[in-house]
Amino acid sequence: MIPRSPTSTLVQGLAALGESAGATEFAFDTADFDKVRLLLKQHTGIALSEAKRSMVYSRLARRLRATGASTFRAYLDALRSGSPEWEQFVNALTTNLTYFYRESHHFQMLADHFKQRARPGHTQQIWCAAASTGEEVWTIALTAAESFGTLTPPIQIIATDLDTHVLDQARKGVYREDQIAKVPEAQVRRYFVQGPPGTYTVRPELRALVTFRQLNLLDPVWSVRGPFDAIFCRNVLIYFDRATQLKVVSRMAPLMPPDALLFVGHSENFSHGQQAFVLQGKTVYARARQPGAAT
Ligand SMILES: C[S@@+](CC[C@H](N)C(=O)[O-])C[C@H]1O[C@@H](n2cnc3c(N)ncnc32)[C@H](O)[C@@H]1O
Repeated sequence: MIPRSPTSTLVQGLAALGESAGATEFAFDTADFDKVRLLLKQHTGIALSEAKRSMVYSRLARRLRATGASTFRAYLDALRSGSPEWEQFVNALTTNLTYFYRESHHFQMLADHFKQRARPGHTQQIWCAAASTGEEVWTIALTAAESFGTLTPPIQIIATDLDTHVLDQARKGVYREDQIAKVPEAQVRRYFVQGPPGTYTVRPELRALVTFRQLNLLDPVWSVRGPFDAIFCRNVLIYFDRATQLKVVSRMAPLMPPDALLFVGHSENFSHGQQAFVLQGKTVYARARQPGAAT
């Protein structure tokens, strides 16, 4: 007789419960995964690699539970573009990592840019095109306040994202202490107020500088106008394929006057295939001075 190990007993126990060791709650086959990939790519430009299979499973399994769907097929078949569940589906699959002063050299350049473009009566317009939970947009606001030495600098920021859930968090401007760890202490004192307990909230004067709006960079029409003195489009293009990246960036060019700056993420490179911009610094591009450029 083969001795029974504790492991085999556990496996048999799970089998008796209708599960097996390592088994998942919902069947999720290649056809389901491919359908998720197709829907997401078509709607958002986000191209999911094979390596994201288990991430997709775990994030969408929550949506199956929430909606009561018994299989991925049933869930996906019932999904309708534009429906409330569609929004949840998209929100579940976006990657929202962000933090204050991410790629901090960008904010040194932005501070100089603000000062160079300052003119009496001119309000500089900034578009933060993948704002996520707001750390980036508030860093832009902090940089403006520091550059102009006032809580009411002459700038206006439009912050957009595809994901409505993160935009709601961004709008609140409330962060835990660990989330603002990269903000210098003097700036925390100047630009945040304490509370709710254990948290810091961006001061209302800075919040008045920002408008939040949902915007899908793949939409044929964008609800932003420009001209923008600077656009931040960081760490989102990386989720798109090359053709989509270039298309999005080339649509931004007409919204920018010459010398306006486009900030992209550290691994997003347009030196090839993009005539409208000239590399200005590490992952910062200036709108080229050329005929047809916005003025
Ligand atoms: C990794 S975060 C980057 C946040 C911030 N820009 C930064 O660099 O820290 C990527 C953001 O892009 C957003 N996103 C993904 N696809 C998008 C699309 N098609 N249109 C607009 N935003 C999109 C996601 O919802 C997510 O909040």
